Amino acid sequence: MHSIRNQFVAFVSVLLVILLILLNIFPLTASRDQVFEEKKASLSAQASVISSSLGGLDSLTRETVSDVLAFLDISGFARTIVVNDEGISVYDDGGQTGVDPEIADLRESLSGKNIFHSFFEDSAFRSSASMPVSNRLGMITGAVYLYEYDAQRAQILMGIQSRIRNLSLAIGLVSLATVAVFSEVLIRRMRELVSSIRIVAAGDYSHRLVTRGNDELTELGDEFNQLTERLDTTEKQRRRFVSDASHELKTPLASIRLLSDSIVQNEDIDPEMMREFVTDIGNEAERLQRTTEKLLDLSRLDDDIQVVPEPVDVKQTVIDAISMLNPLAAEKSVKLRCDLADGCVIMATAEDLYHIVFNLIENAIKYNVNDGMVHVVSEADENTVTLTVEDTGIGIPEEDRLNIFSRFYRVDKARSREAGGSGLGLSIVHDAVLAHGGSITVGANKPQGSVFIVSFPRPSSEETGI
Ligand SMILES: Nc1ncnc2c1ncn2[C@@H]1O[C@H](COP(=O)(O)OP(=O)(O)OP(=O)(O)O)[C@@H](O)[C@H]1O
Ligand SMILES: [Mg+2]
Repeated sequence: MHSIRNQFVAFVSVLLVILLILLNIFPLTASRDQVFEEKKASLSAQASVISSSLGGLDSLTRETVSDVLAFLDISGFARTIVVNDEGISVYDDGGQTGVDPEIADLRESLSGKNIFHSFFEDSAFRSSASMPVSNRLGMITGAVYLYEYDAQRAQILMGIQSRIRNLSLAIGLVSLATVAVFSEVLIRRMRELVSSIRIVAAGDYSHRLVTRGNDELTELGDEFNQLTERLDTTEKQRRRFVSDASHELKTPLASIRLLSDSIVQNEDIDPEMMREFVTDIGNEAERLQRTTEKLLDLSRLDDDIQVVPEPVDVKQTVIDAISMLNPLAAEKSVKLRCDLADGCVIMATAEDLYHIVFNLIENAIKYNVNDGMVHVVSEADENTVTLTVEDTGIGIPEEDRLNIFSRFYRVDKARSREAGGSGLGLSIVHDAVLAHGGSITVGANKPQGSVFIVSFPRPSSEETGI
């Protein structure tokens, strides 16, 4: 694996080196070029002064040239050479400088050319200018050669250069150190995140990453913690569900086993008792069947399979559910009253809406008192379709209202089981309501009993096609 830190440091180093090299080269070459330009201008000007002064002579001889040059200030040059038209030196003041004059330049100047050179060598600017000398008639009578050696300017320039170099080195080192420290901190935090991910992946959902600071990595850490939190909750719910479900299935199975054992072991069991036992076995089996059917309904709702919603009428669904529940209501002598408005259409599936309506009304009858009352109302306004199921039953204590939509939750276990309840009805109602974009609330009815209110968004006529 290539470490991000190494890649990062390598990348920054390359960038830095390029930047610093450019910083070291450009200003210096620019100032050097400028010095060359200046040298050219000043040397050319002085060479042309000497050349025109010598132009007054008919021919260049040692004496005449020395006389003329004595009047001119040529002390600034390391060497001044004058040759006559035959290329023979008639003036040369700097034999001791050890500089070889550019004889070739002088020869070219004798044929009429101005020649200039400037270069930087051995910590000095060395410049030379060679120019023809012409007399009044325009004939070339010789040539002048000036050589200048400037170590002072070179010194200044080299001083600047070494300062830039030192500064660059310092900048480079500090930047590299900063990048190394910064990337180390970054990598360490990323490693912490990776090791947390590994811990959670290994199954420890209670693990949380300790986040610091307020940057993107902190954000990532917080997101990771939230994700783990959700995983933790889901995992706990799953475990509880599995244990609750097995418990729910175990109880009727144990009864069946007990009853069948009694029949098998009791050889001369009388037919009346036998019938009673077998009926009990049938009842337990029916309970098992109901529970498993409800579990299947819940797992279908959990699966999040995208069902295609269709327009369904709340009024008709309530009528269908009540026709199924009338016998139960009669048995408990509970009166059913309905106020069902027309046009209460929602987008759902007929099956889910039936589950919602049936479970709510069934509960209202089951947990009612003798001669109690159930009032079902459906109504619609511009945006919402509302179904209200009120009863005058035993009511739900306030502290239980939050939990009654949880799986297998029963307020009064004994009573609910006696009534054949598995504690799954309201969780199916809850999940189905949410699956179709609705909401459900529960409250107390006055003077006694409970009220369940389910609201759905009212679909537009384009959606329902009605
Ligand atoms: N209208 C009501 N009045 C009083 N208590 C209620 C009412 N509706 C529900 N409950 C309480 O809430 C619990 C959960 O209801 P839920 O419908 O989920 O399960 P259940 O009726 O026991 O079983 P199931 O509906 O699966 O056959 C019930 O056991 C009961 O204690
Ligand atoms: Mg129920």
